Amino acid sequence: MELVEKVVINDVMLRDGLQLENKLLSVDEKYDLAVNLIEAKVPTLEIGSFVHPKFVPQMANTGELFKRLDKYVSMNLVALVPNLKGARRAVEYGVSQLNFVFSASDTHNLENVRQTTEESLKNYELIKGFCDERNVKLDVSIATSFGCPFEGEIPTGRIKAIINKIIERKPNIVTLADTTGMANPKQVYLLMKTLNEKHPEQRFNLHFHNTRGMGLTNILAGIQAGVQSFDTALGGLGGCPFAPGATGNVSTEDAVHMLHNMGISTGINLDDLIVTSAKLREILGHELSSSVLKAGKYDRKYPVPSKNKH
Ligand code: COA
Ligand code: ZN
Repeated sequence: MELVEKVVINDVMLRDGLQLENKLLSVDEKYDLAVNLIEAKVPTLEIGSFVHPKFVPQMANTGELFKRLDKYVSMNLVALVPNLKGARRAVEYGVSQLNFVFSASDTHNLENVRQTTEESLKNYELIKGFCDERNVKLDVSIATSFGCPFEGEIPTGRIKAIINKIIERKPNIVTLADTTGMANPKQVYLLMKTLNEKHPEQRFNLHFHNTRGMGLTNILAGIQAGVQSFDTALGGLGGCPFAPGATGNVSTEDAVHMLHNMGISTGINLDDLIVTSAKLREILGHELSSSVLKAGKYDRKYPVPSKNKH
């Protein structure tokens, strides 16, 4: 089995995770959770988006949250943006790492950000120029990379062509997102192996939703293909409001638990993560899909799961 020693986890609970929640979290509640995640040594966090508050009211206080977190400015705190207007607003609030999102399929992109993929690629050029002039890091996330809830399979040639175009302008991180849990491990392995071979200098990141239970196996397939960077969400929250049947991301604690048990380091304190996930469950007032939160972690040295239960 081809394994790596270390992977980077980017927790997206405060952005992707909260998008489908009925409860709107206050800046104080989000700040508290963000600090808990930082203290648990999660190396990077996507904590909100600059989109129209009419469409995603859960993200309306993202600017205030960045302001509150200004003493953590050296951390990798990321904001998702769908267009130049979002990028401008984010930078006004002091955000220094943006994640520009669009979809590989026109239908989902039109539902989500009201543009065709081609139009988003033109916007990418504008946003990249804007970020380069200001020394702001620009990541790119390509939603529906492994399948679209409206169009089904996306031809691999289309994904590769989009990625070639993006990489010409030297983005920071390129994420391939499985928006509604359609990816399978063989598909992930084959695509990521090809992309890593073709673009060895590019850092790729993977973003899986666990809609059909394939999330952790897809992470493992990504690792086998050489990927060392993954989005996950505390508690397994998440989902795109503009994709039918969307459900949560792979839970951060489940991913970290699997990786640590395999001897792969994340630098994250799993116990702290589980405590924070229990707090999140309390704030939201409903059960979370995380397995480790329910069962407790399994420690090979002390195999008494109930001891760690929260
Ligand atoms: N943030 C806030 N407001 C924005 C904005 C942004 N990033 N981009 C545009 N707007 C505002 C414009 O100022 C304008 O406001 P007005 O009506 O008060 O004049 C209005 O939105 C329409 O502008 P337009 O450029 O035509 O945007 P649009 O209607 O095509 O909407 C998006 C585009 C991207 C802003 C909108 O579709 C959106 O917010 N989608 C949510 C995407 C999302 O968060 N998905 C989940 C994460 S992947
Ligand atoms: Zn997502």
